[in-house]
Amino acid sequence: MAAIGVIGGTGALGKAIARRLAKAGHSVTIGSRSAESAEIAAQEVGAAGGATNSDAASGKDVVIVTVPYSAHAGTLAQIKDHVGSAIVVDTTVPLVPPKVMRVQLPETGSAAVEALAHLGEGVRLVSAFHSVAAHKLIHDEKIDCDVLVFSDDVEARGVVVGLCEDMDLRGLSGGALVNSAAAEALTSILIYMNKTYGADGAGIRFTGLTKARAI
Ligand SMILES: NC(=O)c1ccc[n+]([C@@H]2O[C@H](COP(=O)([O-])OP(=O)(O)OC[C@H]3O[C@@H](n4cnc5c(N)ncnc54)[C@H](OP(=O)(O)O)[C@@H]3O)[C@@H](O)[C@H]2O)c1
Repeated sequence: MAAIGVIGGTGALGKAIARRLAKAGHSVTIGSRSAESAEIAAQEVGAAGGATNSDAASGKDVVIVTVPYSAHAGTLAQIKDHVGSAIVVDTTVPLVPPKVMRVQLPETGSAAVEALAHLGEGVRLVSAFHSVAAHKLIHDEKIDCDVLVFSDDVEARGVVVGLCEDMDLRGLSGGALVNSAAAEALTSILIYMNKTYGADGAGIRFTGLTKARAI
């Protein structure tokens, strides 16, 4: 079982991820700008504890970043010197309100590529969880969608695919970190689908896969 810090874990996605990982037996620390808020959220979701974001990022096997795009750069700067050799999982979708149903990726290509620039080349960066709705993940229900996992670090990608399985999700390798742009862009389309087709958290499913798990 892994020691996992969830940065911004007081929010919708962070709490949902923390809850499922804690339920699977991982030692999860919720991170927040406020240690007190983190502790409250940790109790809510059955996590091991709460701490400031930098403390939650320290000494972990895996650090999962779940903050809005507007807080992305600042939060990564805060945790950069604390993550050490941990696998850092970025969940950020670079939505630009109010037009969140339009794909508006940053000029750099994607939030994941920006995260790599912020954290430095040596980081074990993975990008994942863009297409799963937090309001579904927070419950125990089986979620009918795949989670794409991107990284240039093949072993780290495999670890995060495994965490998806622990969370009762099907995680699929989507290849290199740069491919994260596709999943980040797809989120705007999923939001559009929710509105257009009345979906309660539309998701994606890949068909035709013949190997159970190929990283
Ligand atoms: N919600 C979803 O269904 C979903 C699905 C897939 C991907 N995502 C992505 O996951 C990330 C988190 O989404 P979310 O819906 O969970 O966000 P959220 O609930 O709005 O915010 C998450 C946490 O980020 C921290 N935060 C907010 N503003 C901040 C700021 N200006 N500076 C520093 N920290 C700030 C807050 O924690 P503290 O106040 O405790 O510090 C907050 O609880 C986003 O990038 C989103 O695109 C979300």
